Amino acid sequence: MKSPEFRILVTEPIEQSTLDKLSAVGQLTLGRRGEFDSVPALASAFAEHDAALTMLSNPVNAQVLSAGDRMRIVANYAVGLNNIDIREAAARTIYVANTPDVLSEATADVALLLLLDVARHSRQAETSLRNGEFDGWHPFGFVGTEMYGKSALIIGMGRIGKAIARRLAGFGIRLAYHNRNRLEPAEEARYMVSYNDNVDTAIQQADFVILSCPLTPQTHHIIDKRRLGMFKTDALLINIGRGALIDEAALAQALHAMQLGGAGLDVFEKEPLIHADLLTAPHAVLLPHIGSATRETRKAMGHLAADAIIGILRGDNPQTIANLVRL
Ligand code: GLV
Ligand code: GLV
Repeated sequence: MKSPEFRILVTEPIEQSTLDKLSAVGQLTLGRRGEFDSVPALASAFAEHDAALTMLSNPVNAQVLSAGDRMRIVANYAVGLNNIDIREAAARTIYVANTPDVLSEATADVALLLLLDVARHSRQAETSLRNGEFDGWHPFGFVGTEMYGKSALIIGMGRIGKAIARRLAGFGIRLAYHNRNRLEPAEEARYMVSYNDNVDTAIQQADFVILSCPLTPQTHHIIDKRRLGMFKTDALLINIGRGALIDEAALAQALHAMQLGGAGLDVFEKEPLIHADLLTAPHAVLLPHIGSATRETRKAMGHLAADAIIGILRGDNPQTIANLVRL
């Protein structure tokens, strides 16, 4: 099946079995980490390749796509697609694929990791122990917030939101959700979630607010200064979606002012930069975008992206490729 005329760009090193799959169908160009994070570098590479496996740090904008004269498919090594101008791609009949489903469980795990850590101060407690500060059980030592009986609001009830809901239900947490489209009644019953179409009132009632929606013009800064003012004073905010769902400067200010109980973030507005006031904010747990970072998931993401590339290059019916993005 190897066809030397196919040239496939993989913008930075990823796990080997995915590279092996792709090398079987064409000639690979493997970028160095960060090499294709700029528009000019990516555009000149697009001009010379038939397919690209891209990272969420690669700006696949109109300029890059317009350079891709022979480009047939861009497969993003991520579920989020905010780094790709998908309308421009469609206008140029370049297919776009992502990696849904396979990362939902891993990412939901990180939402829970953040929630439990913010709620129970485990990271600070461990640091304190290592600093030699543990002087035995303490009536007031690192007292936090219980999960059981609390209410959580999940904003974004897609596959990741549902995986989070399943976990939270096990903790005995009451669940509300907000989503672009309401779920079917049977699904609401299955995930034990109640719908709230009003984000403001939903936030006012929630002990935990969890963001698991995609970043779109509609969800940009869905948590802004005004809404931060509506949080319960001990509420916890968790974000495993995209940084720009939150106005980070406003969040940092709210944390410093103790307007909410804490925040756990796996994503940031200007990655890899972290807002200086967030770094100094109390009750903030900050992780370096590790939501999908399990061995199982990274391999599955690679294979899903590679299979879409292989399918398109060998001329399969696009309808049979489930992870192609449909506008
Ligand atoms: C990671 O953030 C992803 O979108 O896969
Ligand atoms: C986002 O794509 C999600 O699955 O929640």
